[in-house]
Amino acid sequence: MFDIETDVLIVGSGPAGLSSAALLSSYGIPNVMIEKYSWLANMPRAHITNQRTMEVLRELGVEDEVYQDAVPQDLMGNNVFCTSLAGEEVGRLLTWGNHPNRRADYELASPSRIVDIPQTMLEPIIFGKAMREGCLARFKTEYLSHTQDENGVVATVRDRVANQTYRIRAKYMIGADGGRSQIVKDLGLPLDGKEGLAGSMNIEFDADLTHLVAHRPSVLYWVFQPGAAGGIGAGVLRMIRPWHKWLGMWNYDVSAGRPDYSEEEIRQILFRLIGEEVPLKVTRVSYWTVNNIVARQYSKGRVFCMGDAVHRHPPTNGLGSNTSIQDAYNLAWKLAHVLKAKADPSLLDSYNDERQPVGKQIVTRANKSIEDTLPIFETLGITGVSTDEEMKRRLDKRKMSTVEAEAQRKALNKQIRNKSYEFNCHGVEMGQRYRSGAVVSDGTPEPEYTRDRELYYHATTWPGARLPHVWLEHEGRKVSTLDLVGRGRFVLLTGVSGASWVEAAARAGAELGLDLPALQIGPGCAVADTFGDWAMVSEVSDSGCVLVRPDAHVGWRAQMLSAEPTVELTRVMRRILGRA
Ligand code: FDA
Repeated sequence: MFDIETDVLIVGSGPAGLSSAALLSSYGIPNVMIEKYSWLANMPRAHITNQRTMEVLRELGVEDEVYQDAVPQDLMGNNVFCTSLAGEEVGRLLTWGNHPNRRADYELASPSRIVDIPQTMLEPIIFGKAMREGCLARFKTEYLSHTQDENGVVATVRDRVANQTYRIRAKYMIGADGGRSQIVKDLGLPLDGKEGLAGSMNIEFDADLTHLVAHRPSVLYWVFQPGAAGGIGAGVLRMIRPWHKWLGMWNYDVSAGRPDYSEEEIRQILFRLIGEEVPLKVTRVSYWTVNNIVARQYSKGRVFCMGDAVHRHPPTNGLGSNTSIQDAYNLAWKLAHVLKAKADPSLLDSYNDERQPVGKQIVTRANKSIEDTLPIFETLGITGVSTDEEMKRRLDKRKMSTVEAEAQRKALNKQIRNKSYEFNCHGVEMGQRYRSGAVVSDGTPEPEYTRDRELYYHATTWPGARLPHVWLEHEGRKVSTLDLVGRGRFVLLTGVSGASWVEAAARAGAELGLDLPALQIGPGCAVADTFGDWAMVSEVSDSGCVLVRPDAHVGWRAQMLSAEPTVELTRVMRRILGRA
């Protein structure tokens, strides 16, 4: 006899585990989430919450709760490079889509806004949703080991309150146990890359710094100070709550081991970052290291790993928690379909095929963004500078009226703009195109990227891409294309001449035992193409269709009505679900 039985055991209550719990619960899948500590995140690590993540939270119905607690996009984007907050400003970049040139890109791409919300505030919101939907959460419960066979997984866990060990039997297990994942170790998943490349210290503190930032509100201020370089590139002051709660980041040489600063030394570090001896209260100090690691394989048998367990990288670009939540969004509907016997377990192979390349991409991008800061130091001539006087002398050089100084100013300007690959990297955030058995080609070649593919999101309904967002009208309400899909279902979108697809969807759904709603978009249809934007982005004719998976990625599309729509749609659905 097992002590507990469930469909899915989720280990870890970080962004990956919580999202898995909320999504699976909302799809009606029984799950148990265990967490070795007594509560959720106690440090405000992640904060940049991108539009793709907000879309997942929108589907979960908690987007408005997040907006209420979050710092809005408007206040996020004066990314300042300076010698200290009160000191000299070296340059500034409008970030997170705040430049007028980029605003439209962000607004056109999604119904949701990018926001800044500390992990300590986001996690309880997702947790609340998971619990309301039926997740069983057990805190102070530590995963110790597991075995698996063709029927399920048995995990041995320890109740850290009663100090008792018991077993949980599940049909599947999710390893969302973070950057030191025991589950990844137990499975022997191969990890590529290196860890502990540099070290950084987080100092949380309370101080009212309004007078230094009110005219240039931002979530990040980068400080060029002797001794601060290394780590993620420079010293950092990060806003946690405007403008009285802060995180100071100060880097250290990992080869020399963790520094052991006294309280007074930590205060002095903060004064150096701020540039003034303001009243402040240090509330917590913690340490982390820069990693460049991705698992080559995310799963083995019935155990699926996600989040930091399989992609470990620095916070540059703000992708960690975002990618973790998006991993969960990819896996949850697949598990739900398999557990409800609507799909063959082979569908689960597509989780690795689709998400591992994303993990690899973001680990590379986040590490490259650290490297991209170095040329700024080099151009200013401040690499390795160890005194304030020398720093000032070198920074003053760019103010001179000489040919060399002008060239230096131009180079600096270019390098600061190049940091858009860290702070306006919309293509990386939004533009994932999946290739796997859960995507069926329509025979068309992959659309070209017409602008830089990292900086810009390219909307397309090419199978594998995320469904493009446009505003429509449905049942008297303004809705996004993304509001019509999701919630654990496949949805077929078609046009004015697509009535046969609607019938085909009903028949295919009945044959496969699935709810497969179909919606016609256009004049006289259930959904109005209010601004004609769907006609511009759908890339199919009015008699064609776009089959959208539960994670809002296009599973297949047809340019026009086929001779036997029911046969074709059923064939495609069978292929995606592994039931061919
Ligand atoms: P996470 O580590 O959050 O959670 C794992 C959980 O598993 C933990 O609660 C742990 O206690 C639990 N656990 C571990 N072993 C266990 C066991 N044996 N039994 C039971 N439970 C166990 N990201 C982002 O998207 N935007 C951003 O702006 C930033 N900024 C940022 C700044 C800084 C300074 C840092 C250090 C990090 C970021 N991040 C970020 C990254 C982000 O914090 C990170 O990627 C996510 O927390 C990862 O989420 P996971 O759920 O994968 O792991």
